[in-house]
Amino acid sequence: MQAVTERDALIAALSWQLSMGADEAMLDAPVARTAAPPPGPEAEAKRPPTTPSAPIPLRKVPPAGQLSASLAAGASTLEELRAAMAGFEGSALRETATNFVFSDGVPGAPVMIIGEAPGAEEDRQGKPFVGASGQLLDRMFASIGLSRAENLYITNILPFRPPGNRTPTDAEIALFLPFVLRHVQLAAPRFLVLAGGVSAKGVLQAREGITRLRGRWHEVTVLDGTVFKVLPTWHPAYLLRNPIAKRDAWADLLLLRRNMKDD
Ligand code: URA
Repeated sequence: MQAVTERDALIAALSWQLSMGADEAMLDAPVARTAAPPPGPEAEAKRPPTTPSAPIPLRKVPPAGQLSASLAAGASTLEELRAAMAGFEGSALRETATNFVFSDGVPGAPVMIIGEAPGAEEDRQGKPFVGASGQLLDRMFASIGLSRAENLYITNILPFRPPGNRTPTDAEIALFLPFVLRHVQLAAPRFLVLAGGVSAKGVLQAREGITRLRGRWHEVTVLDGTVFKVLPTWHPAYLLRNPIAKRDAWADLLLLRRNMKDD
């Protein structure tokens, strides 16, 4: 049997970190974020003698889900929503993401696309769908005359990249859903396109997967009672891996174009 060298052990440790989602080095040296900073000499000198102190009243912090719902409801413009989400501290995803990713395209456009979450390139640039799947998405919608420069508005279920591009958890989706629905209400598109299973199941609160949901119209009702027409379709990243499914995606795009003309 071959001996395990120190190099083998280091490679194994790196590969474990990669599989846990630590796929980017942000600093030269690791930072223990949870450790308290060591007290400097001045702080030591000023420290009062230890006497029992009065109990500190606990500040009532609302659970993160209630907080996202009330922040979302309190935003009355897209700019207010962007600011509320950027300041929202109820998700650990913001600690690992490089950038907050809100939207791209034309607010108020007739078609709004909701994807899953930023990937590595989106996280770097702070814009949704700018990597390989975004380029395919642009080509797909250009084929029916839609572009983010003119008549398309794009966002995601999560505004932060999950570490290692893992799939968002149900809890993360539920946490950000009030923001997403408020985003739809404020952007007020005529048609909503849900790209992929995470977006479709999240927005439609459906038990079925994208295979069953895609290719037909659904409706979603937002907080003020407005009803939006919703078309789930394959995620472009899925189409890159399964080019055969592009014909379904093309049928979905034609369905969208037909309804835009009729409307
Ligand atoms: N995939 C998504 O769902 N959204 C992006 O912004 C990029 C990739």
